[in-house]
Amino acid sequence: MNHSVTNPLDRARDLVDAADRIVVFTGAGMSAESGIATFRDALTGMWENHDPMVLASPDGWDADRDMVWAWYRERAAQVRSTEPNAGHLAIARLADEKAVGGGSVQVVTQNVDDLHERAGSTVDAHLHGGLFAPRCEACDRPEPPDVALVAPRPDCPVCGASIRPGVVWFGEMLPATDWQRADEATRTCDLMLVVGTSGVVYPAAELPERAYRAGTPIIEVNPDVSALTRLATVPLVGSAAELLPALAER
Ligand code: OAD
Repeated sequence: MNHSVTNPLDRARDLVDAADRIVVFTGAGMSAESGIATFRDALTGMWENHDPMVLASPDGWDADRDMVWAWYRERAAQVRSTEPNAGHLAIARLADEKAVGGGSVQVVTQNVDDLHERAGSTVDAHLHGGLFAPRCEACDRPEPPDVALVAPRPDCPVCGASIRPGVVWFGEMLPATDWQRADEATRTCDLMLVVGTSGVVYPAAELPERAYRAGTPIIEVNPDVSALTRLATVPLVGSAAELLPALAER
């Protein structure tokens, strides 16, 4: 009889080994070690006098398109100047390893950066849109990713209306196809990794709750307690760049 109490990381590694269809649900903490401030960190630099909840809203956009465009352009430029961290790379590696055995790792992210993609992951759902998906606010025409970096704020070359950031603002609906893909992945997975999210924003935070109600094991990676820690089969206290490589290594 093995009386040794396995440590949480060993228990989590056993769950990863046993899983065939993993969903990785990520939030801003996933990108923190790439130097991207988490959403609820105090804003630094020229934005310290602005409330992000106002800037990231249709009213904020209507009030001052140039300022809101500049804020997102600055965030897009910052993402371009950073690199995926060891956590992003570990998720991409795990997907390659699971694919060899016919398994899968699906990434469902709340993040608007492209660091998962630049680490080699395919992102199944960007629940809150993306910094590099600008589009015309009138005719909905998508613009190339680098238009997000254009200054001054550009107008649609087809209809002349304003091009807006491709992110989901407070009060806006989530992109339907992304939500459907995320919900389907949540329903069919046999393990969910919840990484770097405070779990306070809905409907995104509903996904781990659905996994929990379905009896799907959940591993959380977060240095702090979050609103989702209560759902975790194995809560791992620590950072994405530190713990995900340890989880992914076979
Ligand atoms: P938050 O800023 O609310 O939470 C970040 C979480 O990451 C916290 O729980 C931190 O403890 C954790 N964290 C910090 N550093 C970490 C690290 N190195 N490794 C792992 N975890 C770390 O960000 P989100 O939960 O992503 O929505 O916020 C969700 C949504 O709220 C965002 O997508 C955004 C915002 O409103 C929209 O923009 C629509």
